[in-house]
Amino acid sequence: MARFLFTVIVLCSLSSLIFVNTLGIRRPAPNDAKQLRFDRKKGEFRILQVADMHYADGKKTPCLDLLPQQFAHCTDLNTSNFINRMIEAEKPDLIVFTGDNIFGFDAEDAAASMNAAFAPAIASKIPWAAVLGNHDQESTLSREGVMAHIVGMKHTLSRYNPPDVDVIDGFGNYNLEVHGVEGSSLMNKSILNLYFLDSGDYSTVPSIPGYGWIKPSQQFWFQKTSKTLQKKSKAPALAYFHIPLPEFAYFDSSNFTGVRQEGISSASVNSGFFTTLVEAGDVKAVFTGHDHINDFCGKLTGINLCYGGGFGYHAYGKAGWSRRARMVVVSLEKVSHDEWGAVKSIKTWKRLDDEKLTAVDGQVLWSQQPTGSRRKKPVHLG
Ligand SMILES: *[C@@H]1O[C@H](CO)[C@@H](O)[C@H](O)[C@H]1NC(C)=O
Ligand SMILES: *[C@@H]1O[C@H](CO)[C@@H](O)[C@H](O)[C@H]1NC(C)=O
Ligand SMILES: *[C@@H]1O[C@H](CO)[C@@H](O)[C@H](O)[C@H]1NC(C)=O
Repeated sequence: MARFLFTVIVLCSLSSLIFVNTLGIRRPAPNDAKQLRFDRKKGEFRILQVADMHYADGKKTPCLDLLPQQFAHCTDLNTSNFINRMIEAEKPDLIVFTGDNIFGFDAEDAAASMNAAFAPAIASKIPWAAVLGNHDQESTLSREGVMAHIVGMKHTLSRYNPPDVDVIDGFGNYNLEVHGVEGSSLMNKSILNLYFLDSGDYSTVPSIPGYGWIKPSQQFWFQKTSKTLQKKSKAPALAYFHIPLPEFAYFDSSNFTGVRQEGISSASVNSGFFTTLVEAGDVKAVFTGHDHINDFCGKLTGINLCYGGGFGYHAYGKAGWSRRARMVVVSLEKVSHDEWGAVKSIKTWKRLDDEKLTAVDGQVLWSQQPTGSRRKKPVHLG
């Protein structure tokens, strides 16, 4: 990780920065992206999660795990088409790609594969954010290179890593703020916080087998960021990353919504991030991918642990079980006929890639307790 210490910042022009690090990867600083904020008409912020596209080479790449009659005419382009249909149906304010965006082993050229995979999001001009999975680095670019490519793409709010931290594990650890409705008293405040983390690929510790995990350096950054944000406002937060936490295995069908059709492929060790989240207190739900045929949400100690459900057609799946996407809609409280207040509720559902984009498993993940109820202390912004 020492290479971060040698990161050199070169000022290229008044408006753009190019970062050049010791590996020679040039990465443009993200554009001054537009501030995320709640929609004034509906008092909502809508997030589409796309988990495990496993994109490779577009129309040359076949689909996996379908009914026999579905294999003809099915390629990566069906994954792109599903994104387009979801955008059209749900009109998200943000699209989040939770890793294994490309399936590196099969993609001839990582940059070309990513350009194709994210093309529907870019064409829609909707802001989008991505994190890395465990397969993104298996083509022609390293994890570092993949993240560097992503942050230079159009309309993305993805970040390489926090600029104010010298050493952090992984690539693509960052947070985004969603401000109140334009023109309202909360317009300059973050009333919803989003965290994105790199959950790694595989263990690099010889005595520990299996997948990667969220490291102490990342947890320190999360703790510090959460504390700073909570000093400014008691906004609820959501976290997105690829590999499920070991706590996803604490549920069964009696206490989750959705299905579990395969094991929970978390790391073989517990790095304590769930406890860190509980202590911090702002994150109400965690969204991961990785296990394509699990799509449940369960609540543990006040935090919802949710899978996105497999999205991509070149990803393993289950024949006869539709590819799917998770929506999250965060709604504001109406404080008067023309003024929106703080976040009132966080809801989720999934849509299947069938003819009608059938919506399933709607649930409320979190809601603000009305003043005077059991809640010990009403939450005040500011
Ligand atoms: C993939 O897309 C093609 C072309 O639109 C369509 O004919 C086919 O039914 C789709 N396959 C699946 C499995 O959705
Ligand atoms: C928000 O910031 C803008 C720009 O600095 C300022 O014009 C506006 O008055 C601020 N509004 C509130 C409610 O703080
Ligand atoms: C879910 O229910 C099972 C019993 O059916 C129980 O063992 C488990 O602890 C519960 N999990 C949570 C997170 O409540």
